[in-house]
Amino acid sequence: PTTAIIVVAAGSGTRLGADAPKAFVGIDARSVLRHALDGIFAAAPMQVIVVAPAGFEGDAEAELRAAAGDRHELGRVVTGGETRQQSVAAGLRALWGDVTTVLVHDAARALTPPALIDAVADAVDAGTGVIPALPVVDTLKRVDGDAVVGPVDRSELAAAQTPQGFPRALLEQAYAVAADAGEEYTDDAALFAAADLPVRHVAGDERAFKITTPADLDRARRLLDAAAP
Ligand code: C5P
Repeated sequence: PTTAIIVVAAGSGTRLGADAPKAFVGIDARSVLRHALDGIFAAAPMQVIVVAPAGFEGDAEAELRAAAGDRHELGRVVTGGETRQQSVAAGLRALWGDVTTVLVHDAARALTPPALIDAVADAVDAGTGVIPALPVVDTLKRVDGDAVVGPVDRSELAAAQTPQGFPRALLEQAYAVAADAGEEYTDDAALFAAADLPVRHVAGDERAFKITTPADLDRARRLLDAAAP
């Protein structure tokens, strides 16, 4: 395949309050990472790079093998870094073959529908990055300490999700620029845009929410319960 997905799973997940790194916490009988990989292997075939926390590479291999079945030759595990950006960079270095489109995905968005992964991959063209985004539903305020300073026009805002897709060559170039500048960004779209490269958005999906807190884990469990036969 000419598309690859880098699944960053190297975070500690301290906000979840579990013993294991977040990717290995069970949602049901299956872990966060396993659910993420099941979604990926239900999408169009692509190279799959799992970025694991140091010391958990073997666990990640086992999850990858279980999710991949007879497509295990598409997968590879590498060790992550201190920050999400360093973890993605490690994933980029592990690509092989003639990949031209790279998706970067949070393992923590475990219930992301395969159709969203395909929609992002399909929307990437030679010059542009693509992110899934949802309209902002909350009423937002600009604040300064405890003072409410003013309103924010939410029609100008969108909430970014993953997977985010990019032409490989431009993403590698943007990572080199960020490394030279010593800058850290919260997502790949911001890093890409900082290198003066264009990013568009497509419709996101509620199910692609990020599992961060125990309440998010409960939400994932309820969704799986509701979907169970
Ligand atoms: O911490 P947060 O949930 O925002 O992290 C988003 C994603 O980035 C998670 O899937 C997490 O595993 C990953 N990550 C990583 N390496 C880090 C920090 C976060 O792969 N050093």
